[in-house]
Amino acid sequence: MIDLVHAQKVFKEYLKSYDEESGDIKLKIVHTYGIMEKSEYIGKKLNLNEGQIELAKLIALLHDIGRFEQRKSLKEFEDFKGLDHAEYGLQVLFKDGWIRKFIEDDKYDDIICKAIENHNKYQIQEGLTKEELLQAKIIRDADKLDNFRVKDTEKFENMFHYNPETIEYETISPIVYKTFMGCKQIDVKERKTQVDIWISYLAFIFDINFDASLQYIVENNYINRLIDRVEYKNEDTKIKMEEIRNCANVYVKERLKLDERKEY
Ligand SMILES: [Fe+2]
Repeated sequence: MIDLVHAQKVFKEYLKSYDEESGDIKLKIVHTYGIMEKSEYIGKKLNLNEGQIELAKLIALLHDIGRFEQRKSLKEFEDFKGLDHAEYGLQVLFKDGWIRKFIEDDKYDDIICKAIENHNKYQIQEGLTKEELLQAKIIRDADKLDNFRVKDTEKFENMFHYNPETIEYETISPIVYKTFMGCKQIDVKERKTQVDIWISYLAFIFDINFDASLQYIVENNYINRLIDRVEYKNEDTKIKMEEIRNCANVYVKERLKLDERKEY
């Protein structure tokens, strides 16, 4: 049994050296708890056992532990500009030894390690065991689901480093548009404008592992809600955003329909 109440106490202790009231640190803390909820939601939908669900929630609690140092030392949340927060998180947990404060038993260490290592990569690495792969898929989906909540509700100034108003006048980089219309995730390095970044969040739908997660996105109407959060004042962007909306909605519908058919 995993003591999640104890683990959450340790998490609070870890956060003591960070300014919990600063807007973006707070956002990441709330995000962590949001992901725990989504991991539990997915675990239940998949009919996993209690132990697997507890482990998924522990991984959710720990997976972004490297974010806080990244934010403090680099004033940055983007991995490609410096430190990879997953790698740094593993260092905090397994080199600095924080993992044993969170959980006494070391039998889950490999699963925790692989899930965290793979949570922010473009795709999951080859060669994981069945349980490692399962937990890696859960954390990746749960992270994306809570990201949709954040993008739906959070103030733009807490999500972007630039003037939030300029997003309305921007254009979409051709490569970003083309990648999205091909139903692929956007490489962070290809993003040039804030609209590109916004579209890259929508493209999370192309990397969802479980139907239950995709269904959750549909039920919350996140695709339309995110697109409608911005008033696109550039005519070309406005037209392309409608094409993106259509592409996304068709993709989701088709995928859920196809998977439904598979059951028969
Ligand atoms: Fe992360």
